Amino acid sequence: MDRIYIFDTTLRDGEQSPGASMDIKEKLEIATQLGRLGVDIIEAGFPMSSPGDFEAVRLIAQTIEGPTICGLSRARKGDIDRTWEAISSAKKPRIHTFISASDVQIEHQLHKTHKEVLEIAREMVTLAKGYTEDVEFSPMDATRAQIGYLYEMIETVIDAGATTINIPDTVGYAIPEEFGNLIGSIKKNVRGIDKVIISVHCHNDLGLSTANSLAAIKNGCRQVECTINGIGERAGNAALEEIVMAINTRKDLFNFVTGIDTTQIYKTSRLVSQTTRMIVQSNKAIVGANAFAHESGIHQDGFLKERTTYEIMTPQSIGLTSSKIVLGKLSGRHAFKNRLEELGYELSEEEIERAFEIFKKTADKKKQEITSSEIEAIIGDEIKIAEEYYHLDSVEILCGDKVIPLANIRLVTAKGEILESQSSGSGPVEAIYKSIDKVVNIPTKLVDYTVHGVTGGSDAMGEVSIRIESGGKTFSGRGADTDIIVASAKAYLNAINRLMHTA
Ligand code: KIV
Ligand code: ZN
Repeated sequence: MDRIYIFDTTLRDGEQSPGASMDIKEKLEIATQLGRLGVDIIEAGFPMSSPGDFEAVRLIAQTIEGPTICGLSRARKGDIDRTWEAISSAKKPRIHTFISASDVQIEHQLHKTHKEVLEIAREMVTLAKGYTEDVEFSPMDATRAQIGYLYEMIETVIDAGATTINIPDTVGYAIPEEFGNLIGSIKKNVRGIDKVIISVHCHNDLGLSTANSLAAIKNGCRQVECTINGIGERAGNAALEEIVMAINTRKDLFNFVTGIDTTQIYKTSRLVSQTTRMIVQSNKAIVGANAFAHESGIHQDGFLKERTTYEIMTPQSIGLTSSKIVLGKLSGRHAFKNRLEELGYELSEEEIERAFEIFKKTADKKKQEITSSEIEAIIGDEIKIAEEYYHLDSVEILCGDKVIPLANIRLVTAKGEILESQSSGSGPVEAIYKSIDKVVNIPTKLVDYTVHGVTGGSDAMGEVSIRIESGGKTFSGRGADTDIIVASAKAYLNAINRLMHTA
Protein backbone atom coordinates (compact mmCIF):
# COMPACT_ATOMS: atom_id res chain seq x y z
CA MET A 1 0.00 0.00 0.00
CA ASP A 2 1.21 3.49 -0.84
CA ARG A 3 1.81 6.03 1.90
CA ILE A 4 0.12 9.43 1.93
CA TYR A 5 2.25 11.98 3.79
CA ILE A 6 0.31 14.30 6.04
CA PHE A 7 1.70 17.84 6.10
CA ASP A 8 0.05 19.81 8.87
CA THR A 9 -0.04 23.58 8.47
CA THR A 10 -2.26 24.45 11.46
CA LEU A 11 0.55 26.52 12.97
CA ARG A 12 1.17 28.46 9.74
CA ASP A 13 -1.86 28.67 7.39
CA GLY A 14 -4.18 27.82 10.31
CA GLU A 15 -2.84 30.75 12.27
CA GLN A 16 -3.76 32.98 9.32
CA SER A 17 -7.43 32.58 10.37
CA PRO A 18 -8.53 35.97 11.66
CA GLY A 19 -8.23 36.08 15.45
CA ALA A 20 -6.46 32.71 15.73
CA SER A 21 -2.99 33.88 16.68
CA MET A 22 -1.13 31.71 19.16
CA ASP A 23 1.76 32.45 21.47
CA ILE A 24 4.98 30.44 21.61
CA LYS A 25 3.88 28.21 24.47
CA GLU A 26 0.59 27.42 22.76
CA LYS A 27 2.35 26.62 19.49
CA LEU A 28 4.72 24.24 21.22
CA GLU A 29 1.80 22.50 22.92
CA ILE A 30 0.02 22.04 19.59
CA ALA A 31 3.22 20.86 17.87
CA THR A 32 3.69 18.27 20.65
CA GLN A 33 0.14 17.02 20.12
CA LEU A 34 0.65 16.93 16.32
CA GLY A 35 3.65 14.70 17.02
CA ARG A 36 1.41 12.33 19.03
CA LEU A 37 -1.15 12.43 16.24
CA GLY A 38 1.57 11.19 13.90
CA VAL A 39 1.74 13.89 11.22
CA ASP A 40 4.74 13.53 8.90
CA ILE A 41 5.54 17.21 8.52
CA ILE A 42 4.73 20.16 10.78
CA GLU A 43 4.80 23.55 9.07
CA ALA A 44 5.71 25.38 12.26
CA GLY A 45 5.40 28.93 10.96
CA PHE A 46 6.72 31.70 8.73
CA PRO A 47 9.90 32.81 10.57
CA MET A 48 10.35 36.06 8.61
CA SER A 49 6.83 37.25 9.46
CA SER A 50 7.60 38.24 13.09
CA PRO A 51 10.19 37.73 15.82
CA GLY A 52 7.55 35.76 17.78
CA ASP A 53 6.99 33.38 14.89
CA PHE A 54 10.74 32.97 14.43
CA GLU A 55 11.10 32.01 18.11
CA ALA A 56 8.16 29.60 17.95
CA VAL A 57 9.57 27.83 14.88
CA ARG A 58 13.03 27.67 16.48
CA LEU A 59 11.67 26.21 19.72
CA ILE A 60 9.59 23.62 17.86
CA ALA A 61 12.62 22.66 15.73
CA GLN A 62 14.72 22.21 18.87
CA THR A 63 12.08 20.27 20.82
CA ILE A 64 9.87 18.14 18.60
CA GLU A 65 11.30 14.85 17.45
CA GLY A 66 9.68 12.61 14.88
CA PRO A 67 8.03 14.81 12.27
CA THR A 68 9.94 16.92 9.75
CA ILE A 69 9.89 20.58 10.86
CA CYS A 70 9.21 22.97 8.04
CA GLY A 71 9.39 26.77 7.83
CA LEU A 72 7.75 28.89 5.14
CA SER A 73 9.63 31.54 3.13
CA ARG A 74 8.74 33.83 0.30
CA ALA A 75 11.14 33.40 -2.62
CA ARG A 76 13.49 35.98 -1.12
CA LYS A 77 17.01 35.55 0.18
CA GLY A 78 16.27 37.22 3.55
CA ASP A 79 13.28 34.89 4.17
CA ILE A 80 15.19 31.75 3.28
CA ASP A 81 18.21 32.69 5.42
CA ARG A 82 15.92 33.45 8.37
CA THR A 83 13.94 30.24 7.94
CA TRP A 84 17.10 28.21 7.95
CA GLU A 85 18.25 29.96 11.10
CA ALA A 86 14.96 28.93 12.75
CA ILE A 87 14.84 25.29 11.64
CA SER A 88 18.48 24.26 11.38
CA SER A 89 18.45 22.49 14.76
CA ALA A 90 15.63 20.16 13.70
CA LYS A 91 16.52 16.49 13.11
CA LYS A 92 14.61 16.70 9.83
CA PRO A 93 14.42 20.33 8.60
CA ARG A 94 12.53 21.46 5.49
CA ILE A 95 12.47 24.85 3.74
CA HIS A 96 9.20 25.59 1.94
CA THR A 97 9.41 28.45 -0.54
CA PHE A 98 6.80 29.82 -2.91
CA ILE A 99 6.15 32.38 -5.64
CA SER A 100 3.07 33.28 -7.66
CA ALA A 101 2.42 31.36 -10.87
CA SER A 102 -0.85 32.91 -12.12
CA ASP A 103 -0.94 35.86 -14.52
CA VAL A 104 -3.18 37.87 -12.24
CA GLN A 105 -0.78 37.67 -9.30
CA ILE A 106 2.40 38.03 -11.37
CA GLU A 107 1.09 41.16 -13.12
CA HIS A 108 -0.81 42.91 -10.35
CA GLN A 109 1.09 41.86 -7.26
CA LEU A 110 4.66 41.05 -8.25
CA HIS A 111 4.87 43.50 -11.22
CA LYS A 112 7.40 41.22 -12.88
CA THR A 113 7.66 39.34 -16.17
CA HIS A 114 7.02 35.59 -16.29
CA LYS A 115 10.68 35.08 -17.15
CA GLU A 116 11.86 37.08 -14.13
CA VAL A 117 9.61 35.03 -11.84
CA LEU A 118 11.05 31.77 -13.21
CA GLU A 119 14.56 33.04 -12.57
CA ILE A 120 13.72 34.00 -8.96
CA ALA A 121 12.18 30.55 -8.35
CA ARG A 122 15.32 28.84 -9.69
CA GLU A 123 17.68 31.02 -7.62
CA MET A 124 15.76 30.68 -4.37
CA VAL A 125 15.37 26.91 -4.60
CA THR A 126 19.11 26.70 -5.29
CA LEU A 127 19.77 28.87 -2.22
CA ALA A 128 17.51 26.72 -0.02
CA LYS A 129 19.13 23.56 -1.38
CA GLY A 130 22.46 24.91 -0.16
CA TYR A 131 21.06 24.73 3.37
CA THR A 132 19.11 21.48 3.31
CA GLU A 133 18.40 18.52 1.11
CA ASP A 134 14.64 18.76 1.83
CA VAL A 135 13.18 21.68 -0.18
CA GLU A 136 9.52 22.18 -1.01
CA PHE A 137 8.36 24.59 -3.70
CA SER A 138 4.84 25.96 -4.26
CA PRO A 139 3.76 27.74 -7.47
CA MET A 140 1.16 29.92 -5.75
CA ASP A 141 -2.33 30.17 -7.29
CA ALA A 142 -1.44 27.17 -9.49
CA THR A 143 -5.09 26.45 -10.33
CA ARG A 144 -5.41 29.80 -12.14
CA ALA A 145 -2.00 29.67 -13.85
CA GLN A 146 -1.45 29.01 -17.57
CA ILE A 147 -0.77 25.30 -17.74
CA GLY A 148 2.33 25.56 -19.98
CA TYR A 149 3.89 28.15 -17.67
CA LEU A 150 3.07 26.02 -14.63
CA TYR A 151 4.86 23.00 -16.17
CA GLU A 152 7.86 25.22 -16.97
CA MET A 153 8.03 26.58 -13.43
CA ILE A 154 7.85 23.09 -11.90
CA GLU A 155 10.57 21.78 -14.26
CA THR A 156 12.76 24.76 -13.37
CA VAL A 157 12.58 24.15 -9.62
CA ILE A 158 13.01 20.38 -9.96
CA ASP A 159 16.21 21.10 -11.91
CA ALA A 160 17.27 23.40 -9.06
CA GLY A 161 16.78 20.60 -6.50
CA ALA A 162 13.24 20.86 -5.11
CA THR A 163 12.18 17.52 -3.60
CA THR A 164 8.47 18.24 -3.02
CA ILE A 165 6.27 20.12 -5.48
CA ASN A 166 3.19 21.49 -3.80
CA ILE A 167 0.26 22.51 -6.01
CA PRO A 168 -1.80 25.09 -4.13
CA ASP A 169 -5.39 25.92 -4.92
CA THR A 170 -4.69 29.22 -3.19
CA VAL A 171 -8.11 30.79 -3.68
CA GLY A 172 -10.18 27.59 -3.46
CA TYR A 173 -11.26 27.89 -7.10
CA ALA A 174 -10.90 24.32 -8.35
CA ILE A 175 -13.59 21.66 -8.77
CA PRO A 176 -12.64 18.04 -7.85
CA GLU A 177 -12.58 16.48 -11.32
CA GLU A 178 -10.69 19.44 -12.74
CA PHE A 179 -8.17 19.45 -9.89
CA GLY A 180 -7.64 15.70 -10.15
CA ASN A 181 -7.01 16.13 -13.88
CA LEU A 182 -4.51 18.94 -13.20
CA ILE A 183 -2.48 16.67 -10.90
CA GLY A 184 -2.71 13.84 -13.46
CA SER A 185 -1.50 16.16 -16.24
CA ILE A 186 1.44 17.41 -14.15
CA LYS A 187 2.40 13.82 -13.44
CA LYS A 188 2.22 12.99 -17.12
CA ASN A 189 3.78 16.09 -18.71
CA VAL A 190 6.37 17.57 -16.36
CA ARG A 191 9.94 16.45 -16.96
CA GLY A 192 11.55 15.02 -13.80
CA ILE A 193 8.28 14.81 -11.84
CA ASP A 194 8.89 11.15 -10.90
CA LYS A 195 11.90 12.22 -8.82
CA VAL A 196 9.75 14.33 -6.47
CA ILE A 197 6.70 14.03 -4.25
CA ILE A 198 3.59 15.78 -5.54
CA SER A 199 1.73 17.62 -2.79
CA VAL A 200 -1.52 19.57 -2.75
CA HIS A 201 -2.73 22.47 -0.62
CA CYS A 202 -6.43 23.17 -1.07
CA HIS A 203 -8.39 26.09 0.27
CA ASN A 204 -12.06 25.78 1.08
CA ASP A 205 -13.67 28.85 -0.52
CA LEU A 206 -16.20 26.68 -2.37
CA GLY A 207 -16.37 24.04 0.35
CA LEU A 208 -14.40 21.62 -1.86
CA SER A 209 -10.99 21.44 -0.19
CA THR A 210 -11.36 17.87 1.07
CA ALA A 211 -12.95 16.65 -2.18
CA ASN A 212 -10.18 18.34 -4.22
CA SER A 213 -7.44 16.80 -2.06
CA LEU A 214 -8.97 13.33 -2.43
CA ALA A 215 -9.26 13.78 -6.20
CA ALA A 216 -5.58 14.72 -6.23
CA ILE A 217 -4.64 11.56 -4.32
CA LYS A 218 -6.48 9.52 -6.94
CA ASN A 219 -4.28 11.17 -9.59
CA GLY A 220 -0.82 10.75 -8.12
CA CYS A 221 -0.49 13.22 -5.22
CA ARG A 222 1.26 11.68 -2.20
CA GLN A 223 1.42 14.56 0.27
CA VAL A 224 -1.64 16.45 1.51
CA GLU A 225 -1.38 19.80 3.25
CA CYS A 226 -4.13 20.32 5.77
CA THR A 227 -5.05 21.79 9.14
CA ILE A 228 -6.85 20.60 12.24
CA ASN A 229 -10.55 21.56 12.11
CA GLY A 230 -9.88 22.96 8.61
CA ILE A 231 -8.82 26.36 9.95
CA GLY A 232 -6.83 28.70 7.71
CA GLU A 233 -6.88 31.77 5.50
CA ARG A 234 -10.48 32.91 4.65
CA ALA A 235 -12.71 29.77 4.50
CA GLY A 236 -9.78 27.66 5.66
CA ASN A 237 -7.84 24.65 4.40
CA ALA A 238 -8.68 20.99 3.90
CA ALA A 239 -9.31 19.47 7.33
CA LEU A 240 -6.78 16.83 8.38
CA GLU A 241 -9.43 14.76 10.13
CA GLU A 242 -11.63 14.65 7.03
CA ILE A 243 -8.81 13.59 4.69
CA VAL A 244 -7.51 10.89 7.01
CA MET A 245 -10.92 9.46 7.93
CA ALA A 246 -12.01 9.47 4.28
CA ILE A 247 -8.90 7.45 3.34
CA ASN A 248 -9.43 5.05 6.25
CA THR A 249 -13.19 4.67 5.83
CA ARG A 250 -13.14 4.20 2.05
CA LYS A 251 -10.34 1.63 1.84
CA ASP A 252 -12.27 0.18 -1.08
CA LEU A 253 -11.41 3.33 -3.06
CA PHE A 254 -8.15 4.49 -1.46
CA ASN A 255 -5.50 1.83 -1.20
CA PHE A 256 -3.31 4.04 0.97
CA VAL A 257 -2.07 4.37 4.51
CA THR A 258 -1.15 7.41 6.59
CA GLY A 259 0.95 7.56 9.74
CA ILE A 260 -1.90 9.13 11.70
CA ASP A 261 -3.06 7.64 15.01
CA THR A 262 -6.71 8.48 14.46
CA THR A 263 -7.55 7.99 18.15
CA GLN A 264 -5.72 11.28 18.79
CA ILE A 265 -7.95 13.24 16.38
CA TYR A 266 -10.62 14.41 18.80
CA LYS A 267 -8.13 15.47 21.44
CA THR A 268 -6.13 17.45 18.87
CA SER A 269 -9.27 19.09 17.54
CA ARG A 270 -10.28 20.22 21.06
CA LEU A 271 -6.82 21.56 21.77
CA VAL A 272 -6.72 23.59 18.54
CA SER A 273 -10.24 24.89 19.05
CA GLN A 274 -9.53 25.98 22.62
CA THR A 275 -6.17 27.52 21.78
CA THR A 276 -7.35 29.46 18.72
CA ARG A 277 -10.72 30.28 20.30
CA MET A 278 -12.34 29.01 17.09
CA ILE A 279 -15.47 27.05 17.92
CA VAL A 280 -16.00 23.87 15.91
CA GLN A 281 -19.47 23.99 14.35
CA SER A 282 -21.74 21.24 15.73
CA ASN A 283 -22.28 19.65 12.34
CA LYS A 284 -18.58 19.68 11.38
CA ALA A 285 -17.58 16.34 9.83
CA ILE A 286 -15.70 13.95 12.16
CA VAL A 287 -15.13 16.31 15.12
CA GLY A 288 -18.38 18.32 15.42
CA ALA A 289 -20.54 17.75 18.51
CA ASN A 290 -23.23 16.12 16.34
CA ALA A 291 -20.92 13.96 14.21
CA PHE A 292 -21.77 10.86 16.29
CA ALA A 293 -25.16 11.99 17.65
CA HIS A 294 -28.46 10.47 16.57
CA GLU A 295 -31.73 12.34 17.13
CA SER A 296 -34.38 10.99 14.76
CA GLY A 297 -36.46 8.08 16.08
CA ILE A 298 -35.91 6.04 12.91
CA HIS A 299 -32.13 6.49 13.07
CA GLN A 300 -32.03 5.78 16.80
CA ASP A 301 -34.04 2.60 16.36
CA GLY A 302 -31.73 1.37 13.58
CA PHE A 303 -28.57 2.40 15.42
CA LEU A 304 -29.64 0.59 18.61
CA LYS A 305 -30.37 -2.56 16.63
CA GLU A 306 -27.11 -2.44 14.66
CA ARG A 307 -24.66 0.49 14.84
CA THR A 308 -23.64 0.31 11.18
CA THR A 309 -27.18 1.05 10.02
CA TYR A 310 -26.45 4.74 10.59
CA GLU A 311 -22.73 5.04 11.39
CA ILE A 312 -19.85 4.67 8.92
CA MET A 313 -17.10 5.22 11.51
CA THR A 314 -16.88 4.43 15.20
CA PRO A 315 -16.53 7.28 17.69
CA GLN A 316 -13.71 5.27 19.28
CA SER A 317 -11.72 5.50 16.04
CA ILE A 318 -11.28 9.26 16.59
CA GLY A 319 -10.81 8.98 20.35
CA LEU A 320 -14.36 9.46 21.61
CA THR A 321 -15.79 6.95 24.05
CA SER A 322 -19.26 6.56 22.56
CA SER A 323 -21.91 7.77 20.17
CA LYS A 324 -24.69 9.90 21.50
CA ILE A 325 -28.37 9.24 21.39
CA VAL A 326 -29.96 12.66 21.65
CA LEU A 327 -33.41 12.50 23.18
CA GLY A 328 -35.63 15.18 21.71
CA LYS A 329 -39.02 15.61 20.13
CA LEU A 330 -38.15 13.33 17.19
CA SER A 331 -37.02 10.43 19.37
CA GLY A 332 -38.95 7.22 19.68
CA ARG A 333 -39.79 4.68 22.40
CA HIS A 334 -36.78 2.48 21.64
CA ALA A 335 -34.26 5.20 22.45
CA PHE A 336 -36.24 6.41 25.48
CA LYS A 337 -36.45 2.91 26.92
CA ASN A 338 -32.76 2.38 26.22
CA ARG A 339 -31.86 5.55 28.17
CA LEU A 340 -34.04 4.45 31.10
CA GLU A 341 -32.14 1.16 31.20
CA GLU A 342 -28.80 3.00 31.07
CA LEU A 343 -29.96 5.15 33.99
CA GLY A 344 -30.75 1.99 35.95
CA TYR A 345 -34.58 2.18 35.95
CA GLU A 346 -36.60 -0.99 35.92
CA LEU A 347 -40.12 0.10 35.02
CA SER A 348 -43.17 -1.78 33.89
CA GLU A 349 -44.34 -1.33 30.28
CA GLU A 350 -47.23 0.77 31.56
CA GLU A 351 -44.94 3.06 33.57
CA ILE A 352 -42.61 3.46 30.62
CA GLU A 353 -45.56 4.33 28.42
CA ARG A 354 -46.76 7.03 30.80
CA ALA A 355 -43.25 8.44 31.24
CA PHE A 356 -42.80 8.42 27.45
CA GLU A 357 -45.92 10.52 27.01
CA ILE A 358 -44.66 13.11 29.51
CA PHE A 359 -41.25 13.04 27.82
CA LYS A 360 -42.81 13.72 24.40
CA LYS A 361 -44.86 16.65 25.74
CA THR A 362 -41.79 18.09 27.46
CA ALA A 363 -39.65 17.66 24.35
CA ASP A 364 -42.26 19.41 22.23
CA LYS A 365 -42.26 22.38 24.59
CA LYS A 366 -38.51 22.48 25.11
CA LYS A 367 -37.41 22.12 21.47
CA GLN A 368 -33.96 21.01 22.59
CA GLU A 369 -32.28 17.92 23.87
CA ILE A 370 -33.89 16.35 26.95
CA THR A 371 -31.02 15.47 29.21
CA SER A 372 -30.63 12.47 31.52
CA SER A 373 -31.30 14.65 34.59
CA GLU A 374 -34.52 15.85 33.01
CA ILE A 375 -35.54 12.27 32.30
CA GLU A 376 -34.86 11.42 35.92
CA ALA A 377 -37.12 14.30 36.93
CA ILE A 378 -39.83 12.95 34.62
CA ILE A 379 -39.50 9.50 36.12
CA GLY A 380 -39.78 11.03 39.58
CA ASP A 381 -43.08 12.53 38.46
CA GLU A 382 -44.19 9.30 36.83
CA ILE A 383 -43.59 7.20 39.92
CA LYS A 384 -45.44 9.82 41.89
CA ILE A 385 -48.44 9.53 39.53
CA ALA A 386 -48.76 5.87 40.45
CA GLU A 387 -49.32 6.81 44.09
CA GLU A 388 -51.53 9.83 43.54
CA TYR A 389 -54.59 10.72 45.56
CA TYR A 390 -54.71 14.10 43.89
CA HIS A 391 -53.49 14.61 40.36
CA LEU A 392 -52.92 18.09 38.96
CA ASP A 393 -55.08 18.47 35.90
CA SER A 394 -54.43 22.17 35.24
CA VAL A 395 -53.18 25.33 36.83
CA GLU A 396 -53.65 28.90 35.67
CA ILE A 397 -52.11 31.90 37.26
CA LEU A 398 -52.52 35.61 36.93
CA CYS A 399 -49.59 37.56 38.28
CA GLY A 400 -47.34 40.56 37.70
CA ASP A 401 -46.21 43.69 39.46
CA LYS A 402 -49.57 45.49 39.07
CA VAL A 403 -52.02 42.71 40.05
CA ILE A 404 -52.75 40.57 43.08
CA PRO A 405 -51.70 37.03 42.15
CA LEU A 406 -54.68 34.80 41.51
CA ALA A 407 -54.58 31.04 40.92
CA ASN A 408 -57.15 28.68 39.42
CA ILE A 409 -56.49 24.99 39.89
CA ARG A 410 -58.23 21.84 38.78
CA LEU A 411 -57.42 18.49 40.44
CA VAL A 412 -58.59 14.97 39.67
CA THR A 413 -58.87 12.55 42.58
CA ALA A 414 -57.96 8.85 42.43
CA LYS A 415 -61.72 8.17 42.16
CA GLY A 416 -62.03 10.47 39.13
CA GLU A 417 -63.71 13.31 40.99
CA ILE A 418 -62.91 16.80 39.64
CA LEU A 419 -62.11 19.51 42.18
CA GLU A 420 -61.72 23.16 41.20
CA SER A 421 -60.86 26.21 43.26
CA GLN A 422 -59.49 29.70 43.13
CA SER A 423 -57.43 31.78 45.53
CA SER A 424 -55.31 34.89 45.70
CA GLY A 425 -51.99 35.12 47.53
CA SER A 426 -49.09 37.42 48.21
CA GLY A 427 -47.21 35.69 45.38
CA PRO A 428 -48.09 33.16 42.66
CA VAL A 429 -46.85 30.18 44.66
CA GLU A 430 -48.86 31.15 47.74
CA ALA A 431 -51.96 31.68 45.53
CA ILE A 432 -51.58 28.14 44.13
CA TYR A 433 -50.95 26.54 47.50
CA LYS A 434 -53.92 28.32 49.07
CA SER A 435 -56.23 27.21 46.26
CA ILE A 436 -55.01 23.60 46.67
CA ASP A 437 -55.55 23.87 50.45
CA LYS A 438 -59.16 24.91 49.83
CA VAL A 439 -60.08 21.64 48.13
CA VAL A 440 -57.72 19.24 49.94
CA ASN A 441 -58.68 20.70 53.28
CA ILE A 442 -55.78 19.39 55.39
CA PRO A 443 -53.93 21.85 57.63
CA THR A 444 -50.29 22.11 56.46
CA LYS A 445 -47.44 24.54 56.89
CA LEU A 446 -44.83 25.15 54.17
CA VAL A 447 -41.43 24.97 55.87
CA ASP A 448 -39.07 24.86 52.92
CA TYR A 449 -39.26 25.76 49.24
CA THR A 450 -36.36 25.61 46.74
CA VAL A 451 -36.25 25.81 42.99
CA HIS A 452 -33.39 25.02 40.66
CA GLY A 453 -32.83 24.46 36.93
CA VAL A 454 -32.34 20.76 36.21
CA THR A 455 -30.08 21.82 33.32
CA GLY A 456 -28.79 25.15 32.05
CA GLY A 457 -30.52 27.34 29.46
CA SER A 458 -33.64 29.48 29.59
CA ASP A 459 -35.83 26.60 28.39
CA ALA A 460 -34.46 24.11 30.93
CA MET A 461 -36.75 22.22 33.28
CA GLY A 462 -37.20 23.76 36.69
CA GLU A 463 -37.35 21.42 39.66
CA VAL A 464 -39.13 22.52 42.82
CA SER A 465 -38.47 20.75 46.12
CA ILE A 466 -40.56 21.54 49.17
CA ARG A 467 -41.21 20.37 52.74
CA ILE A 468 -44.52 20.74 54.53
CA GLU A 469 -45.47 20.03 58.12
CA SER A 470 -48.75 18.55 59.25
CA GLY A 471 -49.73 16.90 62.54
CA GLY A 472 -46.14 17.11 63.82
CA LYS A 473 -44.73 15.27 60.76
CA THR A 474 -42.73 16.53 57.81
CA PHE A 475 -43.41 15.53 54.19
CA SER A 476 -41.26 16.34 51.20
CA GLY A 477 -42.45 16.85 47.65
CA ARG A 478 -40.83 17.37 44.27
CA GLY A 479 -42.12 18.48 40.90
CA ALA A 480 -40.44 19.30 37.59
CA ASP A 481 -41.71 21.23 34.61
CA THR A 482 -40.48 23.74 32.04
CA ASP A 483 -42.76 26.20 33.94
CA ILE A 484 -41.66 26.63 37.56
CA ILE A 485 -45.16 27.64 38.66
CA VAL A 486 -46.51 24.32 37.39
CA ALA A 487 -43.52 22.58 39.01
CA SER A 488 -44.43 24.31 42.30
CA ALA A 489 -48.00 23.00 42.12
CA LYS A 490 -46.76 19.49 41.33
CA ALA A 491 -44.31 19.58 44.24
CA TYR A 492 -47.03 20.62 46.68
CA LEU A 493 -49.41 17.90 45.52
CA ASN A 494 -46.56 15.39 45.67
CA ALA A 495 -46.03 16.23 49.36
CA ILE A 496 -49.79 16.07 50.05
CA ASN A 497 -50.04 12.67 48.35
CA ARG A 498 -47.23 11.37 50.60
CA LEU A 499 -49.10 12.75 53.58
CA MET A 500 -52.28 10.95 52.44
CA HIS A 501 -50.32 7.66 52.21
CA THR A 502 -49.25 7.86 55.84
CA ALA A 503 -52.65 9.01 57.06
O1 KIV B 1 -2.49 29.00 -0.16
C1 KIV B 1 -1.32 29.05 -0.55
O2 KIV B 1 -1.04 29.17 -1.74
C2 KIV B 1 -0.29 28.97 0.45
C3 KIV B 1 1.10 28.79 -0.05
C4 KIV B 1 2.09 29.53 0.75
C5 KIV B 1 1.42 27.34 -0.16
O3 KIV B 1 -0.58 28.95 1.63
ZN1 ZN C 1 -2.71 28.45 1.93
